[in-house]
Amino acid sequence: HLHPSNPQMAPMLKAAECRAKGGAPGFKVAILGAAGGIGQPLSMLMKMNPLVSVLHLYDVVNAPGVTADISHMDTGAVVRGFLGQGQLESALEGMDLVIIPAGVPRKPGMTRDDLFNINAGIVRTLCQGIVKSCPNAVVNLISNPVNSTVPIAAEVFKNAGIYDPKKLLGVTMLDVVRANTFVAEVLGLDPREVSVPVVGGHAGVTILPLLSQVKPPCSFTPEETEYLTKRIQDGGTEVVQAKAGAGSATLSMAYAAVKFADACLRGLRGDAGIVECAFVASQVTDLPFFASKVRLGRGGAEEVYQLGPLNEYERVGLEKAKKELAVSIQKGVSFIKK
Ligand code: NAD
Ligand code: LMR
Repeated sequence: HLHPSNPQMAPMLKAAECRAKGGAPGFKVAILGAAGGIGQPLSMLMKMNPLVSVLHLYDVVNAPGVTADISHMDTGAVVRGFLGQGQLESALEGMDLVIIPAGVPRKPGMTRDDLFNINAGIVRTLCQGIVKSCPNAVVNLISNPVNSTVPIAAEVFKNAGIYDPKKLLGVTMLDVVRANTFVAEVLGLDPREVSVPVVGGHAGVTILPLLSQVKPPCSFTPEETEYLTKRIQDGGTEVVQAKAGAGSATLSMAYAAVKFADACLRGLRGDAGIVECAFVASQVTDLPFFASKVRLGRGGAEEVYQLGPLNEYERVGLEKAKKELAVSIQKGVSFIKK
């Protein structure tokens, strides 16, 4: 019975380690919260990503099982599992990219902000690990409420003197994925042909789809605009209600997380013209953080793009979004400052 914990496995693991160390091309990626609803499919999809040479799977429960399972996939990445806080620093040692889907999900009737009390502390602990083991890594933060957890991470990194605003990205890709899907349905197009910028943040009215900037160029009636905007803003709640107490979006989120992580890795590799939406430190508005299109490169989010021309409906939406965002950002900052 060969299990990664069995000494008989040592030679085989060693061969894999050598392959990983011997310059097998690719990046080292850690997933924190790898045994969760998002974490498991995300780990599987990252094991299939040819840009990944080493994949570290960390959780406070069930990491060995998920690791043993995923390690049998005959793809290139070497997989290692890490269980519990005592192994956090080794899980993060030398990582290029850290993806964080750790934390509790919503149940029906909850807002994302209701998760703050539990998830803020989890994100703080994990970011302290990043400070110690991989201060130069790019971080993709998924844990909710993203509008507050990204400012929390920034404060932890600032306190440690390692903050690089280009390397901290709140993942809002699921909003874009949903927007592409719902807009394609209305237009009768294949979603792969549709690109919708979604800006602002990742909760309710802070999610602001820019339907006037959809590609390919198109126009919507006021009713379509209202329907699409609401559906995109409430996409997370739609899934929470359908799952009826069993959690929130996990599979579409894992898909979105991998789409975003892959874009980050292609940027790190030096590919040109990689542009995606993300919640980042920003000067696009008067708020310190805002989601908009960013250009991903060797240094992370190397360029943050302006919003472009907005119509009246979007200008009103922007003001609403900013009001709520300001409160959520401040709540995150105060959590660390106090
Ligand atoms: P889940 O409960 O299924 O999984 C969370 C995992 O995190 C569990 O395996 C748990 O053991 C682990 N965990 C808890 N504390 C930890 C710690 N201190 N260190 C490491 N791991 C820890 O939840 P899920 O459905 O996977 O959702 C995870 C988070 O992602 C939630 O906060 C959810 O709201 C958020 N989310 C964000 C988006 C987005 O678009 N950004 C989308 C969906 C879900
Ligand atoms: C989502 O948008 O699906 C996530 O933020 C999870 C949630 O609570 O809605």
